[in-house]
Amino acid sequence: MSEIAELKIGDKTYELPTEVGSEKELAINVGKLRAQSGAITIDPGFKNTGSTRSAITFLDGEQGILRHRGYSIEELAEKSSFLEVSYLLIFGELPTATQLEEFQSEIADHMLVHEDIKKILDGFPASAHPMGVLSSLVTSQTAFYPESLDPNRSSKEVMLSIIRIIAKMPTFAAWAYKNEIGQPVIYPDSNLDYCSNFLKMMFARPGMNYEVDPVVAKALDTLLILHADHEQNCSTSTVRIVGSSQASLYASLSAGINALWGPLHGGANQAVIEMLEAIKEDGGDTDKYLAKAKDKNDPFRLMGFGHRVYKNFDPRARIIKKAADEVLEKLGVNDPVLEIAKGLEEKALNDEYFVQRSLYPNVDFYSGIIYRALGIPTEMFTVMFALGRLPGWIAQWKEMRENGEPIGRPRQVYTGATSRSYVDISGR
Ligand code: SDX
Repeated sequence: MSEIAELKIGDKTYELPTEVGSEKELAINVGKLRAQSGAITIDPGFKNTGSTRSAITFLDGEQGILRHRGYSIEELAEKSSFLEVSYLLIFGELPTATQLEEFQSEIADHMLVHEDIKKILDGFPASAHPMGVLSSLVTSQTAFYPESLDPNRSSKEVMLSIIRIIAKMPTFAAWAYKNEIGQPVIYPDSNLDYCSNFLKMMFARPGMNYEVDPVVAKALDTLLILHADHEQNCSTSTVRIVGSSQASLYASLSAGINALWGPLHGGANQAVIEMLEAIKEDGGDTDKYLAKAKDKNDPFRLMGFGHRVYKNFDPRARIIKKAADEVLEKLGVNDPVLEIAKGLEEKALNDEYFVQRSLYPNVDFYSGIIYRALGIPTEMFTVMFALGRLPGWIAQWKEMRENGEPIGRPRQVYTGATSRSYVDISGR
């Protein structure tokens, strides 16, 4: 029997049911609060508010724990593959060898995109940020597959929409990059694995031989795993709330891409490298930038530091930091910004301001250093985040739909003018 929470307002006491999740988190259900008391809750940024019940990902911010369907991120990053983790997130269980093979084969069959995508690409100037191109191309899939507009179609048809976008996202991402650098697009090669195909579409050129470096492909696969899902973050909550109106999967994903773009969210990986470059240009003066980050009058933040949930190390940051050393050594890359990042981290972790606020490196702090070593250009870093987060967004959208969740429509506390009569002050 779950506990009852009591809420006292004035001389009245209201009883509210509670529920406990499988990892023992306690929640007070305020679903009937307004009907009972006339009061609502308010929690800007939803820092203390659960929006849903989900069985996909569990985070423990204090312990620095991240699990997908019960499996630790450490084990998945070491032993699994991105498409296997995608299957796990979407279907709830790890695939058998046959299931994984079928999943990979279906994705390989759908990598090609309609030729008219190139006409859409042609409409974008080279200066277009790849995230804007990516969200547009994802939305364009509602035009090429109008049947995908209806999320209530059979699970088989919804599954086809899911396979199509997992298969085509790398093509969209690589073609957005080619459009930016003015090179002809490279068509997908379904004989290659998911990451090798993406790297070839990114870096191959017509008439030139291009061999994918297996070290690069493996590092990219691990990075995509580390970004695959993260419970109810900003972009995933966006995908869920857009999907809750019964907008299509592609419309919901496009909204998620745009939410991820912000520098406080997925855009932080690009902002981290720009920050580290600025520090390098400024003579490596990390103390100056730490002081700026602590100065309330300075809008500068230490990008890649802090997290809404993690008040300890982001487990993904630990894995990426270790991988950064390994990958750069294997590739023989000596990137001075890695040392600047490590110096910045060490000083911040020993600085009262950051310690007091439990600000630790997050997933974005070191990821850009690896992407850069892999040859990925800075403006494509957040696109890489979107590529990784795609299966998580899909899994969360699918769970929301299957659970028949209601349309998201928060309340507010009104603070504007109270009732007043119209007076013509325009002199008409
Ligand atoms: C991602 O939610 C997710 O799961 C996201 C993500 C995912 O996988 O989906 O993990 C991916 O988005 C990681 C975060 C990437 N963003 C950045 O690295 C940008 C820099 N960090 C922040 O701006 C900030 O830490 C947030 C946005 C990540 C979290 O912000 P919160 O939880 O709203 O915290 P806050 O802004 O209220 O900060 C609390 C205090 C404030 O100081 P005081 O008012 O208490 O004096 O900490 C300070 C903030 O000023 N602070 C920072 C800081 N982050 C917080 N000060 C300097 N530098 C920072 N980076």
